[in-house]
Amino acid sequence: MNATSDNLHQVAIPEPFTLVVFGASGDLAHRKLIPSVFKLWCDGLLPEQVAVIGYARSEKSQQQFIDELRESAGNAFADQGVDFPQNKWKKFAARVSYHQGGYNIAADFESLRDSIKSQAAAASVAANCVFYLATPPDAFVPIVQQLYACGLSRRGETNPWSRIVIEKPFGRDLQTAQTLNAQLGECFSENQIFRIDHYLGKETVQNIMVLRFGNSIFEHLWSHDNIDHVQITVAESLDVGRRGKYYDNAGALRDIVQNHMMHLLSLIAMEPPVTLTPDAVRNEKVKVLKALRPIPPVCAKNGVVRGQYTAGTIGGVKISGYRETENVRPKSGTETFVAFKVYLDNWRWAGVPFYLRTGKCLQRRCTEISVHFKRIPDVLFNLPPYGPLPQNVLSIRVQPDEGITLEFQAKVPGAVMKIEPLKMKFDYKSSFGASPPDAYERLLLDAALGDATLFTRSDEVEAAWRFVAPVIEHCSQDCCSMISEYQPGTWGPAAADELIQADGRQWYLG
Ligand code: BG6
Repeated sequence: MNATSDNLHQVAIPEPFTLVVFGASGDLAHRKLIPSVFKLWCDGLLPEQVAVIGYARSEKSQQQFIDELRESAGNAFADQGVDFPQNKWKKFAARVSYHQGGYNIAADFESLRDSIKSQAAAASVAANCVFYLATPPDAFVPIVQQLYACGLSRRGETNPWSRIVIEKPFGRDLQTAQTLNAQLGECFSENQIFRIDHYLGKETVQNIMVLRFGNSIFEHLWSHDNIDHVQITVAESLDVGRRGKYYDNAGALRDIVQNHMMHLLSLIAMEPPVTLTPDAVRNEKVKVLKALRPIPPVCAKNGVVRGQYTAGTIGGVKISGYRETENVRPKSGTETFVAFKVYLDNWRWAGVPFYLRTGKCLQRRCTEISVHFKRIPDVLFNLPPYGPLPQNVLSIRVQPDEGITLEFQAKVPGAVMKIEPLKMKFDYKSSFGASPPDAYERLLLDAALGDATLFTRSDEVEAAWRFVAPVIEHCSQDCCSMISEYQPGTWGPAAADELIQADGRQWYLG
């Protein structure tokens, strides 16, 4: 998001820079990063002289690296149903190189620095750098320290500039996140650090602010005066797959709630920012996180539903139980599903419950936020024989089938008065003619432009941990270690339904 109004509709092209991808042999680099950089380059959104350096520990030749990238970029384009532009790839591949090195070896970083400088000099451009850390988290600190030691972090310098992009997990709890923030802060200043959460790059997530603050009809309804409750669902149909080692140490609370769901919650609940500058937007998001009412230990026990999928099938495909997954402890107590209710202790949202649920191996993939308006008074149509009538619901479908639905009541045509709920739908594909671009394209472009609006600030990460870490801690204590099993292909444990039904409500998907 660019802050100035006169260039909002233009797409800015960053200055020439070198993108260094640490962890270049990994899945993320292959599946997402390189295809996204190539797509941006093909669309003319990156400077011609952009240089891409893949940095990883494995030994491989330049040609081998390029061949591997060609294959994964080809797959990514095929998945999106887009023809692969082979002629453009040839030109792009000429800008890609491979640098083999350790993550804590000074000499390897010095030679990286020298090749960045010589490539930039040969192209007569400034040696600006975006360092993308697509590595396991234990490599984050060694890498930033080595970048600092070899003079590539360029703290406080703007010509040439350096930025780092860091993937999650950003700490395991508040203390580790604070330590990591402090260690990064010794080598890079906060405005050089781009903590990525790919949910913020999704078009539908960016549209939450436009929906709320670009229209006059919603904002005056957006409070406890008119809203009964809000639901946020992040449902996945996939299992943990080959990520057992990472996942078993994370669980749904760390993997999804602490980051993706906290962003969705803060965007839906925030106050209008004064401007669209990165700090103005993030200040408002942080205030929401700070207003989250802590879940006390006794409520974590009774009010946080944690589940784990068993063996079963989804759509005829056999799924092994979570505990049988490779690299998962056979008696693991890690949750693959979680549901709970939270309140925001501020004026706007006083007394309005927010119900959150997320899980793996659920009936279908669906991320949705639904805003449920208060019931109409018990008069007129809300009395028998017509009522009680359902509530109006505004639902924002983040993915798939991206769109927005408004549910309201209408008279069924005919001589008798019969009222039924109807859905008014906006669908991205039919309105804009295409599916939204991959989130990584937008985020990579913003990092290269230096626009941090869609990245997480240090205090935002810490505020999210301040709420989530105690929940994890209480849940993992012996007395609270209850974890319910659920069948793949369902909507999670029955206890999740009971949680919301106890308040006289139902889970909703528009
Ligand atoms: C990642 C999580 O951050 O998000 C994964 O680590 C999860 O476990 C993924 O599957 C979901 O992303 P998306 O874009 O498919 O909703």
